Amino acid sequence: MPQIVRDVSQLRAIVAGWKAGGDAVGVVPTMGALHEGHLSLVRAAKIDCARVIVTIFVNPKQFNAAEDLQKYPRTEEADAALLAPLGVDVIFAPPAEAVYPPGFATTISVTGISGPLEGAHRPGHFDGMVTVVAKLFGMTAADRAYFGQKDWQQLQVVQRLVADLNLAVKITGCETIREADGLAMSSRNGQLSAKARACAPALHTAMQRAGAAIRGGAPVPIAMRAARAEVLAAGFDEVEYIELRSAVMLERVSRLDGPVRMLAAAMIGGVRLIDNIAV
Ligand code: PAJ
Repeated sequence: MPQIVRDVSQLRAIVAGWKAGGDAVGVVPTMGALHEGHLSLVRAAKIDCARVIVTIFVNPKQFNAAEDLQKYPRTEEADAALLAPLGVDVIFAPPAEAVYPPGFATTISVTGISGPLEGAHRPGHFDGMVTVVAKLFGMTAADRAYFGQKDWQQLQVVQRLVADLNLAVKITGCETIREADGLAMSSRNGQLSAKARACAPALHTAMQRAGAAIRGGAPVPIAMRAARAEVLAAGFDEVEYIELRSAVMLERVSRLDGPVRMLAAAMIGGVRLIDNIAV
């Protein structure tokens, strides 16, 4: 089993030892409830780095609703068992007081690309996310960090953070891992009822169909409206957004010049699912 560390100074001492020996250190930040998506990041980290830290911390600052925070699955033992065969060196799973001790007063805010999409629907989410990610970079002193494209906007926000603050960590964005029926893997999928789970792949199917239509010359607003209708007809309760954006700056686009991403968020049976694809 990987060593589980909860104390920041203990983590620092371990990492200092590794670095003294010349080992590159990779970090995979997670909130636990690990699945194949997370494990793919760990495998990518193991290829590049002699030492790999997986952090497990359900960050209260990035949740908008107390209920969502409370409902978030916590499965540390199962997570450790999944990580053991992958050769992870340390699981860093600090208590909230170690991350946010009394007197904690700093928030990092990435403006611009944090504004639309997830930023518009989850006020404060990206400030909380990017603050904890900056702290995790500081606490682990990692040379490289691995994030999933599943959370495309998060990945862009983290890249912006690292560039803007000259952080000495190299970010790698790894492909979205999906179930056989196309549903993007997510720790929230376990909260879906059997009926909702059966409908959930429709989000990805509708996005793919819309992407193909746009590549075939269909006007973007019409393709987006059709995708929204398809998702609702499949049994989703609400589509928060489904939009075409430039891949890095996340600006609205109505034509395919340069890298373009379709991003969506939708509610089904009380569970919020997000997805994105290249178009
Ligand atoms: P969490 O949702 O646990 O995700 C941890 C990492 O796994 C993120 O980089 C996410 O994009 C990646 N991931 C999740 N599902 C994936 C999938 N199906 N395929 C590929 N990668 C996937 O994202 C967070 O936690 C938090 O915001 C965090 C960065 C840890 C900060 O608290």
